[in-house]
Amino acid sequence: MKFSLTQTALEQTKGDCLVVAVFEDKELSNAAATIDKATKGLISRLLERGDLPGKIGQNLLIPEVEGIDAERLLLVGAGAKDKLTDLKFKGLHQKAIASIKELPLTRVVFDTLDLALSNNPNADKLSLAMQAVDAGYYRVDGLKSSKKAQLTPEVVEFVGGENRSGLEQATALLAGMNLTRDLGNAPGNICTPSYFAKTALELASEYDSIKTQIIDEEEGRELGFNAFLAVGQGSEEPSKFIIMQYQGADDKEEAPIGLVGKGISFDSGGVSIKPSEGMEGMKYDMCGAASVFGVIKAAAEMGLKKNIVAIVVSAENMPDGKALKPGDILTSYSGLTIEVINTDAEGRLALCDGLGYIGKFNPKVVIDMATLTGACVVALGEHNTGLMSNDDELAQTLLQAGKDAADKAWQLPLDEEYQEQIDSPFADIANTGGKPAGSITAGCFLSRFAKEYAWAHLDIAGSAGGVFDKKKGATARPVPLLMRYLTSLK
Ligand code: BES
Ligand code: MN
Ligand code: ZN
Repeated sequence: MKFSLTQTALEQTKGDCLVVAVFEDKELSNAAATIDKATKGLISRLLERGDLPGKIGQNLLIPEVEGIDAERLLLVGAGAKDKLTDLKFKGLHQKAIASIKELPLTRVVFDTLDLALSNNPNADKLSLAMQAVDAGYYRVDGLKSSKKAQLTPEVVEFVGGENRSGLEQATALLAGMNLTRDLGNAPGNICTPSYFAKTALELASEYDSIKTQIIDEEEGRELGFNAFLAVGQGSEEPSKFIIMQYQGADDKEEAPIGLVGKGISFDSGGVSIKPSEGMEGMKYDMCGAASVFGVIKAAAEMGLKKNIVAIVVSAENMPDGKALKPGDILTSYSGLTIEVINTDAEGRLALCDGLGYIGKFNPKVVIDMATLTGACVVALGEHNTGLMSNDDELAQTLLQAGKDAADKAWQLPLDEEYQEQIDSPFADIANTGGKPAGSITAGCFLSRFAKEYAWAHLDIAGSAGGVFDKKKGATARPVPLLMRYLTSLK
């Protein structure tokens, strides 16, 4: 499926399906008004009859409409005209696809880019619409032996878009997001730490701008990645510490943006084992890593003029005779000692060595992303990513990027008063801080390893997908937020 832009007058637009929006309370969008005229009032009559409620999710597909050149007309409800938010805008595109995805269409044309958004003056509407259409056609049933027919069109066009570079940038973003989604949805027996390593090597051979280094367990032990390696020591799957360097800045020596992703390919909890109900959802515990891959791919596709150093810490958390135990004390790469209270708080153990090691690259800023805490799911649900930072300017910039990209984050406080919850009588810190403020104490833990640079932590336990609606699968968040951040940097 390709995306493109068209300037053809709407009634003369050829194609298998033309998509225009209708508001509730019998209001027509500009595109709907044009079609209304060309069809001698068809849409007005449908509104009068009450056949077109105009509410979001209420669509009407009409074939063989006289007066227009397209084969079919899809009228999509857009809700109240002055209450059309960025997320509703995405939603109406996704619902449009739901109405037509089983039809044999080659060319689908949307005339929706001139709809005004009520909450987001900085939105890139073309990008949002493309993300929604792409997600609408995305399938999670690739491994079913017999699949429901779904015919993806060859081309999806947007009327009125002139901005070629916007199209290219959004296409690059989608390439990254689709990699993130594919990795995210892949099960634990396929998407292992070794699979991540292989994917990183493939990216390096596909793009000259990417270099990959894989640190295996033996080398990791020599380097002192004891906290990270402890997570995978009860698993048959070898852990992989993956470094990808993207060079896009004209100055090779320009300080890179650092990214660190949690790549727990399956999180059983380890000896502190999780309840079996819903445990299959812990295949998504590598969505932070999957997002790092998506950002690197999108950056390479669009030729982003920045340098990035990305670290993926990937391991499988399993219980066995060699597994990490509660009470064990680990010496991390940075030298801080950690008392393991709960082996299910493994993400921070893996991340802390990534955060320690990335300092070597003298990054300008470091952003880690992780499905880190169930507490974040409780606090923010799926709609906002949890953001914590030791640098308020970085936090504000990321929050704004999230707003602009309709990929929202909400800041949680990293006040020093929370730090004492992770005190340990036996080691420098404990790996859990008790029930209260579970996401914040996880952030406090990470902050101890991120002292040398401006740092932000994105807890995507709810927003990355897989928790609320199984059918939806991975959302590829926070790739849009991060790409918006990276492309807006001076
Ligand atoms: N991967 C989980 C967090 C998680 C839970 C992500 C639900 C998505 C949905 C993480 O490794 C974990 O188990 N965290 C524990 C920490 C606790 C032991 C301090 C949690 O949140 O219960
Ligand atoms: Mn866990
Ligand atoms: Zn986990």
